[in-house]
Amino acid sequence: MKKTLIAVGAGMVLSLGAGNVQAQDGEAAAKELGCTACHAATTKLVGPSYQAVAERYEGDEAKILETVKSNVKNGGSGNWTDVTGGTPMPPQPNATGKTEQLKVIASWISGMAE
Ligand code: HEC
Repeated sequence: MKKTLIAVGAGMVLSLGAGNVQAQDGEAAAKELGCTACHAATTKLVGPSYQAVAERYEGDEAKILETVKSNVKNGGSGNWTDVTGGTPMPPQPNATGKTEQLKVIASWISGMAE
């Protein structure tokens, strides 16, 4: 795995192994839109880890973006019952239509597939 040295602001830790240049932005956008309350990069919180999402969609950025947009707009349930025990994702009105940020998030997630 290639590690990319980018200007990481003091105190900010890139916890992702992917070394993706957009990791920082993706993580920041996810935080800003409130996704991090339920999702972490590599561990399951309320929702599946983004790495698990990346692997399920085989790192297909277009598919992941579609899924992100759909879940944000309409919520989602039943796809991750094995992981979450059946907790649904509620719609995220604060993130709906924030296409640029959702793209950055989808790109960040897609870089996590192994
Ligand atoms: C209140 C908790 C919560 C918040 C906030 C949340 N999610 Fe989720 N998310 C979940 C749960 C639970 C699931 C699993 C749903 C299922 O079983 O289909 C999920 C699933 C997903 C999936 C996988 C969808 C699929 O069908 O494969 C994506 C992608 C996702 N969330 C992205 C996001 C993004 C981006 C945000 C922020 C804008 C966000 N989530 C905010 C709880 C949350």
